[in-house]
Amino acid sequence: MKGIILAGGAGTRLFPITKVISKQLLPLYDKPMIYYPLSVLMLAGIREILIVSTPRDITLFQDLFGGGERLGMRFGYAVQEKPRGIADAFIVGRQFVGDSACALVLGDNVFYGRGFGNMLREALARVECFGGGVIFAYYVKDTSGLGVIEFDESGRVVSIEEKPDAPKSHYVVPGLYFYGNDVLEIAKNVKPSARGELEITSINKVYLESKRLSVEFLGRGMAWLDTGTHDGLLEAANFIETIQKRQGLYVSCIEEIAYRNGWIDAGELRRLAAENSTGYGEYLAFIASEKS
Ligand code: DAU
Repeated sequence: MKGIILAGGAGTRLFPITKVISKQLLPLYDKPMIYYPLSVLMLAGIREILIVSTPRDITLFQDLFGGGERLGMRFGYAVQEKPRGIADAFIVGRQFVGDSACALVLGDNVFYGRGFGNMLREALARVECFGGGVIFAYYVKDTSGLGVIEFDESGRVVSIEEKPDAPKSHYVVPGLYFYGNDVLEIAKNVKPSARGELEITSINKVYLESKRLSVEFLGRGMAWLDTGTHDGLLEAANFIETIQKRQGLYVSCIEEIAYRNGWIDAGELRRLAAENSTGYGEYLAFIASEKS
């Protein structure tokens, strides 16, 4: 299984913060935003990651992660010349995906909650064994600007609509998708929507129509946070601060996940700890000492 993080776009909704820097590199409390979606793919067990970003920003991501060896992973990079739409990730990333199944996460999506790791590993196993698509449904008060899922009484999906004027439910699709390899072919045939974008919803509709889409509910205990506005950014940062300070356990600490996945050993984690003369470094050192 391969993983793609889509981390491009113009970030205009966060101007002026994003005038000269990628939104996905903004700090979310104590880490760059992209750590959070990256941790999701790592929790699923995905070790090969492609980061897709703009011609302006791609080198910054390369500076941050390099080839991924320090995390026991492999990172590739690809440029999306223009923000043509989320489905474009599978056109830009075609070569990287090769003949694998693939997960896509949006570089500004933050998830946190109990049992999430298991859900991710199940979604991965499902598309690897059976193909098709796995997406998630999350209840929100305000569905505007999101993909909305309609269910019938028996819980079956009836429709998925991108940013509808008259939403048919309060369930929306977070930016995390697992697909079999045929997503490459499906993406190639997606036509631009009325707003001129290659919509991820168009891909999900193809799987839905051929009855190969499963939708997993992210329950009330899950946090899927909004980072799309100035207020959303601050609230997400406060949420992470609250959890970390209360528990003393870090949210989306990629080095910790790499270690717990067995991709790096305690010595390597200690070396990474020493690079950070902050609470973050102290936390990594604590984790390294805990198990050894
Ligand atoms: O966040 C979940 C929502 O994401 C879903 O509910 C929607 O179905 C889906 O279409 C998408 O909606 P957004 O309007 O939030 O997508 P946005 O255009 O803001 O793009 C999401 C992220 O992906 C953003 O950080 C920028 C990046 N992006 C977007 C496009 C269109 C790219 O890197 N390249 C692109 O071409």
